[in-house]
Amino acid sequence: MPQKILQILPPHPLRPDYDRSLAPGDVRDDFQRRLEPENFTAAHFTALAARLSEALKHSPDDPMLRYQLAFVTMQNAPNAAGLALADELLAGIQQSGAPHDGDVARLRHLLDGVLSRAGAVRPSDYTVQRVNWSINNRCPMSCRGCYNPFVDDQITYGQATMIVDKLARHGSTDLVIAGGDPLLWKPIFDTVDHAIGAGLKVALDTTGYTLTHEDLERLSRLSTLRLPMDGSTPEVQRAFRRSTDRDLTSRFKRSLQMCDDVGFRRVRVHTVASRQNIDDLEAIAEIVFGYDSVQQWVVFQWWGRRASRKLTEEMTVAAAEIESRLAKIRATYPDKAVIFAEATDREFLNFMIQSNGQVVTFAAGLSEEFIVGNLLTDEMEEIIAHPILDFAAMRRGVPVALQESGTS
Ligand SMILES: C[S@@+](CC[C@H](N)C(=O)[O-])C[C@H]1O[C@@H](n2cnc3c(N)ncnc32)[C@H](O)[C@@H]1O
Ligand code: SF4
Repeated sequence: MPQKILQILPPHPLRPDYDRSLAPGDVRDDFQRRLEPENFTAAHFTALAARLSEALKHSPDDPMLRYQLAFVTMQNAPNAAGLALADELLAGIQQSGAPHDGDVARLRHLLDGVLSRAGAVRPSDYTVQRVNWSINNRCPMSCRGCYNPFVDDQITYGQATMIVDKLARHGSTDLVIAGGDPLLWKPIFDTVDHAIGAGLKVALDTTGYTLTHEDLERLSRLSTLRLPMDGSTPEVQRAFRRSTDRDLTSRFKRSLQMCDDVGFRRVRVHTVASRQNIDDLEAIAEIVFGYDSVQQWVVFQWWGRRASRKLTEEMTVAAAEIESRLAKIRATYPDKAVIFAEATDREFLNFMIQSNGQVVTFAAGLSEEFIVGNLLTDEMEEIIAHPILDFAAMRRGVPVALQESGTS
């Protein structure tokens, strides 16, 4: 009997600073819950902004309402008028207290960056070369501090091909398809074929949990297949990636072996380095480089973008510490590509399509996720006109050390 694979919308723990005394339906409660998958849409943000505006009419000097409306306005595909409103709202915050001065200053900093970009002349032929696509929202894992944003809705194959065609017409060259886990979405193979046929270079980022030989055959034209390995033992593995399967390490090894067996050579292994596996990196490297199929090993510094403060303390490990471990590993494997992706400076690097076609970009802080459009309804030209996008940052990509000039 075939094994039943868990397919969940990975849970995101409530943010540590949620105020649990707020009643459901209170506009301030809706503000703090705006990034939960069922809320993270332009329609929800528009409705929330309208309610915050209404509340502000009654309390025009309320610093919290001003801050919240400025934030939501910036997050919902802002145009010049929206940015001017956010500017005015933040400028009018007089008193300190709630929100914290630091929060207001941070939003001010983000807004100043966006305003300066809005004022700059953009090259008319600008293209978003690298696109990340969280193509489905279901996953067989529930990782600790999964930073992926999710929305509830799921596009169809027809909608996916329409999006691909828009990207190809626009001139995008590189597509990284992830999830959730894209292999849990049935039309993934036809979508990959369609994207490659349209001239895009396509990489697939999967847990590999359901990978089969047949899948690998269908995916033979990928530029890279990205597979995880975060611990040399199930215990260490579970410190980041969790599932009902108690032995993920064996499952992940099985996927790599399958790539070796069929001669699929363009594998990139991803390891999320945290306090929990820092002492295991050498053992992980030994496993990873034992497979001929592995071309690159990318070590991501664990990043608590959506994690609670407690989890962040438990998981975070300094970049310098990871670097020093990797230096030793590089000396052991001088012919191998060992790439480090730091969590810092991740401001506005992404152009990410979500499972409902919505396009988002992120700043580095908590809740700093910005909707810039939806490829089901908008053309790329309309989306890239949004001043929130930082083209220079997107070109750089996730900061990586050694060999590559951009990844993610
Ligand atoms: C956007 S995920 C998509 C693919 C798939 N969901 C997965 O996690 O393997 C891309 C990479 O980000 C990494 N990642 C996920 N959560 C992370 C976190 N909190 N900090 C650093 N890297 C993380 C994963 O290793 C993954 O390979
Ligand atoms: S595999 Fe990826 S999407 Fe799934 S829970 Fe883990 S980090 Fe999140």
